[in-house]
Amino acid sequence: MDMKLPITVLDRAVSVRDLRSRPLRELRVSVIDRCNFRCTYCMPKDSLHGKGVFLPLVKLLTDHEITDLVRAFVGMGVQKIRLTGGEPLVRPGFPELVARLAAIDGLNDIALTTNGVLLPRLAADLAAAGLRRITVSLDSLDHAVLSHMSGGKGKLEDVLAGIAAAEAVGFARMKINTVVQRGINDHTIIDLLAYFRGSGHSVRLIEYMDVGNSNHWQADQVVPSAEWVQRINAVWPIEPVGDGRASETARRYRYRDGQGEIGLISSISQPFCGGCTRARLTADGILYTCLFGTQGTNLLPLVRQPGATGALEERIRTIWEQRDDRYSEIRNEQAPRDSKVEMYRMGG
Ligand code: GTP
Ligand code: 5AD
Ligand code: SF4
Ligand code: SF4
Repeated sequence: MDMKLPITVLDRAVSVRDLRSRPLRELRVSVIDRCNFRCTYCMPKDSLHGKGVFLPLVKLLTDHEITDLVRAFVGMGVQKIRLTGGEPLVRPGFPELVARLAAIDGLNDIALTTNGVLLPRLAADLAAAGLRRITVSLDSLDHAVLSHMSGGKGKLEDVLAGIAAAEAVGFARMKINTVVQRGINDHTIIDLLAYFRGSGHSVRLIEYMDVGNSNHWQADQVVPSAEWVQRINAVWPIEPVGDGRASETARRYRYRDGQGEIGLISSISQPFCGGCTRARLTADGILYTCLFGTQGTNLLPLVRQPGATGALEERIRTIWEQRDDRYSEIRNEQAPRDSKVEMYRMGG
């Protein structure tokens, strides 16, 4: 009898598939929509006028509610969560939330995406809470370029201090996310790669995306990843790493001289919707099934209803089973969407 339960749970988890047969495997949770940066490609200052841009803190899901939600998703097959924002580290009491999540049975992987600035204060607590993976966003090592791209908020020394603080408590292999915009930071990319070669960390060059509406995205600012393969090869020969999982966002390459790996995230030039197993949850409990979504489902009423765990799982199942998203693959075949949710709300 004892042997039967895990098999039943596993069966049920494996069986949640969307209309394109993609399983639900990863949940990205925005824990707060605020940020201490104002990146021009994400949260440009000129888009933040007026009241009501950010959720009042009382509207955020509580730690308890996030934990209940994540547990329900784990019951539906999620094995991995990524904590995002906004900037997750500005959420009050964030390490305690991580500790609660780390205690969930069946959740194998908790990752964090951060701009790094608060890591000197929090890295040790996060490691102690059970966090095992960190991605730090860093767009340039050029002071002026970084300052511009972060809306005047980011200082290079602060981000590097954050990376050093994480290294000091054992995060030896981090990912460094770099959004590339032609004419803005592309001339500084080779320096950035040089800096991290041999460090154990892996830089991922991300094609600038038309996520949200406030960044006024223009296609001519995208540097297609194929161009990077050529540019990097001319400096340090690279080769693809063959074991990429279908659900991965990045195509991985390694330096032939053994100095580590890089990733290319090509949502514009080579979309990866076919293997997309990611759901997204906003800081106030709205579930989206695509980063470019315009309509979500509010799960808050079910989380707040005592004894509704089964109903919550069924709701998630129904939503996932109706999912047909593949925005990046059909971006050029449709009229521009003007009501996309901003990335800092959606949970990048
Ligand atoms: P792992 O958890 O280590 O596999 O990392 P990841 O590649 O999922 O995480 P990360 O959050 O670092 O993603 C890198 C970037 O890829 C994000 O900041 C987004 O710019 C982009 N991205 C992530 N998921 C998606 C997605 O589902 N669709 C699109 N179009 N872009 C995505
Ligand atoms: N295009 C690509 N990536 C973006 N991010 C935010 N906005 C964009 C965009 N317009 C990603 C960056 C950052 C993370 C928090 O979100 O990777 O590291
Ligand atoms: Fe903040 Fe990240 Fe958005 Fe920059 S990209 S404004 S660091 S949430
Ligand atoms: Fe997934 Fe939507 Fe991104 Fe495609 S565009 S990979 S469906 S989140």
